Amino acid sequence: MNFELKTLSLASAAKTKVNTLIVLVSDTFEAGKDPLSALIAKAVQAKDFSTAAGKSLQAYSTPGIAAPKLVLVGTGHAKPQEVRSALSGAMSALKSAETEKAAVVFAGSPTPSALHAAVLAVAEGTYVYGTTFAKPKTRKLGQVWVGVASMNQALKNRFATAVAMVQGIEFAKEWANRPANHATPSMLAKAAESLVKGLPKSAGFECDILGPKEVAKLGMGSFISVAKGSAEPLRFIVLKYQGGAKSEAPTVLVGKGITFDTGGISIKPAPEMDEMKFDMGGAASVLGVFKSLTVLQPKINVIGLIPACENMPDGMAVKPGDVVTSMSGQTIEILNTDAEGRLILCDALTYAERFKPKAVIDIATLTGACVIALGAVRSGMFATEDKLAQALQSAGHEALDLCWRMPLDDEYAETLKSNFADVANVGGRAGGAITAAKFLHRFAKKYPWAHLDIAGTAWKGGAAKGATGRPVGLLLQYLLSHDAS
Ligand code: BES
Ligand code: MN
Ligand code: ZN
Repeated sequence: MNFELKTLSLASAAKTKVNTLIVLVSDTFEAGKDPLSALIAKAVQAKDFSTAAGKSLQAYSTPGIAAPKLVLVGTGHAKPQEVRSALSGAMSALKSAETEKAAVVFAGSPTPSALHAAVLAVAEGTYVYGTTFAKPKTRKLGQVWVGVASMNQALKNRFATAVAMVQGIEFAKEWANRPANHATPSMLAKAAESLVKGLPKSAGFECDILGPKEVAKLGMGSFISVAKGSAEPLRFIVLKYQGGAKSEAPTVLVGKGITFDTGGISIKPAPEMDEMKFDMGGAASVLGVFKSLTVLQPKINVIGLIPACENMPDGMAVKPGDVVTSMSGQTIEILNTDAEGRLILCDALTYAERFKPKAVIDIATLTGACVIALGAVRSGMFATEDKLAQALQSAGHEALDLCWRMPLDDEYAETLKSNFADVANVGGRAGGAITAAKFLHRFAKKYPWAHLDIAGTAWKGGAAKGATGRPVGLLLQYLLSHDAS
């Protein structure tokens, strides 16, 4: 889908030859002398339409309007959140019909954040997953004009960011949505390689793939223990982007890449186990961020690390009570093989030290407890430094991809004590998202560190089952606004 930013008055919007014209009308709307303005004013007066956020009115084959289908959408104060939800509500107009070309026009000039929200909403509302069908599905919508009354550089910049963000989000969705037999660790590695292939060396991207032998040599005994029950060989994916000065410390993103989580010997119950194909949502978000980086090529340095494997029960699988040695040298008693995410992440966190990073952020569908704590609205966020926490929180706000800070008090680590190893991989049920974070914290002492638990936000269940592409928006926004040199 191709987005284009245009300067469009309502008079010229009325003349655009698109299948569907969506007009966003806020409370500050002032009617001009054009036919579209007259129509809006008339509908408001007749109380058939209101500018309140979420109100809408559809019309067909309207005299003076070139587009056969016209949708008026109220956006209230035109706050980003209002624009997004109002536009989402109107998206069926683009999805159900055979719409190939659409225009979304602000009656007036939006703030850059509201413009960003509109781009996200159109992409979100028209996304189709289509890979694993006999006849692959694609979205009908090919061309979207986004119209503003007057153009400026701030709008242009934000638009470019939003469009690149959408590409990253959709790359993440694609990979997270694919079933585990179409997204094995090797296939994820290929996807990472495909991101940098074809780019000139001067662009600054590199991708290294490590297999079982290399990972064993590094001493990643914890990561290896999770992969032991699977016939699929593990992969450790290293993505590098140097867009800034070589002397500039990079930010490292670490994504949990469990391509399927059965629980292992501590096997999960059958209902909804299929959703554990989404357990590589963290990995998908790292791939998505790199997709966006290839589009924007900003002046920053970023490393992406993805430990990828399946968690399966088998004669070879790791057993409850087994003690393994992590790359850090710390031994771990695996009391529950279903707490596998932290076992693969801890070795990646140790590996991250070699980059002398300015910050390390791991992203993981880590705990059911986080879903209980925060639901599907905000991702759980843990950070060792207030500045980092603040930056992530506000990036989430800007990108409409929210998170909420959770505590890291040492007292929460009490339950991770083991009689047989340096640490156990599970505590009790109480505060489960926090004890998981405290486990990871032991391996992240050498740099500022943040952990995003996206168990509740990476995908939706039920009838709308599918990946959300979160938190690509939050991460990209963070990198661009708080990391730019
Ligand atoms: N991938 C799951 C976490 C998860 C569960 C995400 C449900 C979304 C929905 C993770 O590997 C896991 O199984 N965690 C366990 C940890 C427990 C054994 C301490 C959990 O949350 O139940
Ligand atoms: Mn698990
Ligand atoms: Zn898992």
